[in-house]
Amino acid sequence: MTQDLKQSLTTLILNHDDLQGVALQEKLVALLDSNIPYYNWSGFYFMNNEKRQLEIGPYAGAKTDHITIPFGKGICGQVAESGISFEVPDVEQQDNYLACSIDTKSEIVVPMFLGERLIGQIDIDSHSVDPFTAEDHELLSWIAAFVAQRL
Ligand code: SME
Repeated sequence: MTQDLKQSLTTLILNHDDLQGVALQEKLVALLDSNIPYYNWSGFYFMNNEKRQLEIGPYAGAKTDHITIPFGKGICGQVAESGISFEVPDVEQQDNYLACSIDTKSEIVVPMFLGERLIGQIDIDSHSVDPFTAEDHELLSWIAAFVAQRL
């Protein structure tokens, strides 16, 4: 499925060569949300290094209170400090976690780099326990790299 999705994302992007920035990010989260049943909240956060906080970008899913997240707080804030992908198969096992919805059972956060610079991340919440595989890591890293080139 991920391979098919990658294909449709590539087609979408080729058909919309002009798509970039927020419009591209909106399209991508909508595609992820509608094509992958276990992606129940899909969104972007961007780094504000001056304020040492993440700021929310386009997302698909339930409205969240976490519009900004201080570096170090929650799964997202930890990735803002480490710059390393963080998969949490079961959020109940994670102390440093910010709940968005009681339905969320697992989460994956993949950093986004522009060259060497950490600029943001993709955050996926799932209502399933331990749903993510190497394919999800690969797909999300691919999207992160793509979006970074078209800010
Ligand atoms: N659960 C995240 C907060 C962001 S929401 O999932 C959209 C965290 O622990 O950082």
